[in-house]
Amino acid sequence: MQRAFFNLLFVSLVVSLQACVAVNSAVVADTPGLKTLAAFPIGVAVNVASAGAGIQVSKERADLIGRHFNSLVAENSMKMSYLHPAENNFTFAGADALASYAHQHGMVLHGHALVWHSDYQIPVWMKNYQGDWEKMLASHVSQICAHFAGTVRSWDVVNEAIDDLHPAGYRASIFYEKIGKSYIEKAFIAAHAADANAELYYNDYNIEGSQGKLDFMLRMIDDFKSRQIPLHGIGFQMHVSSDGPGIAQIRKSFKAVADRGLKVRISELDVAMNQQRQFSTFTPAVAAQQKARYKAIITAYLEAVPPAQRGGITFWGLLDGDSWIGKRYQRPDWPLLFADDYSAKPALSGVAEALTGK
Ligand code: G3I
Repeated sequence: MQRAFFNLLFVSLVVSLQACVAVNSAVVADTPGLKTLAAFPIGVAVNVASAGAGIQVSKERADLIGRHFNSLVAENSMKMSYLHPAENNFTFAGADALASYAHQHGMVLHGHALVWHSDYQIPVWMKNYQGDWEKMLASHVSQICAHFAGTVRSWDVVNEAIDDLHPAGYRASIFYEKIGKSYIEKAFIAAHAADANAELYYNDYNIEGSQGKLDFMLRMIDDFKSRQIPLHGIGFQMHVSSDGPGIAQIRKSFKAVADRGLKVRISELDVAMNQQRQFSTFTPAVAAQQKARYKAIITAYLEAVPPAQRGGITFWGLLDGDSWIGKRYQRPDWPLLFADDYSAKPALSGVAEALTGK
């Protein structure tokens, strides 16, 4: 464990050449740490250089994370293929390092994700598995949950099991094809059996924007509740943009889940500003628009979700240059709270203002 901890101290300064203009420098130098403004976890997704390494910490990163966040999630390194690369082999070192980093810094660790259809993240051995899929998947879930019992407080047990098609339906993932829709509830049952104290979430995107997808998910929730399947909350990924989905729909979606007595997490928040590729730099006007959008989203969360059901808010990365959005869509974008020179963006004040009701 000691060795794993030292692993994480390697310095990996991620240099990004993304445009960063002076809009950020003058603002919010004195914004208090976000974590001091909320009674629920305020989290950030962190990256790991490779399967066996720890969190990427430069001093600047560690300072920002320590000041603003009290919850961590691995952006990638706790996905299926990294934790479970061979049927009888688990590689827990990187995640253990992250867990001890979280513990040493007084943060909670959220686990992401035990079951996810994404082809690249399903281990090759699993794709080729010829035995009893139901047993195999339950064993995958329970061995991982048992390993992290006491260190991972909450899990995304199943990620993105609902398709976007209209009308929405279960995604034709390999799990669905091999087991049928019951793979979802069985994953929750296995996770709960392995760690009865962990909070168990179903996590998905576009449930805040698509009424059809939300309705399908609500039916699944109602069904699970009627059969006492151990589902404790819903993670709204919230990879949103500056102009959509509308805030009324977002608020209504949070409320629909809260009304069912479940916890609500905003699990992967980022606000893309350049979907139409109309900007080459992050101007003060764009920054102001982003600040207003962040503020509106957090305000909607506070309005729709009663305090006891707030599972927390996690931002999907620290610096703009870390974000998956620019990489995936090959465009400049500035979706997060901090610029690449570690300065706080107006978006940070937007979040702080929402949290303090100003
Ligand atoms: O592992 C290889 C590494 O060996 C190689 O050096 C590197 C070079 O590019 O690529 C590495 O793989 C990348 C991996 O992230 C780890 O960095 C993949 O190419 C890349 O596709 C992968 O992207 C991640 C994506 O999920 C797919 O797993 C993003 O960073 C991550 O932000 C994104 O997160 C997802 C959530 O898990 C679920 N919700 C949607 C969200 C955004 O897509």
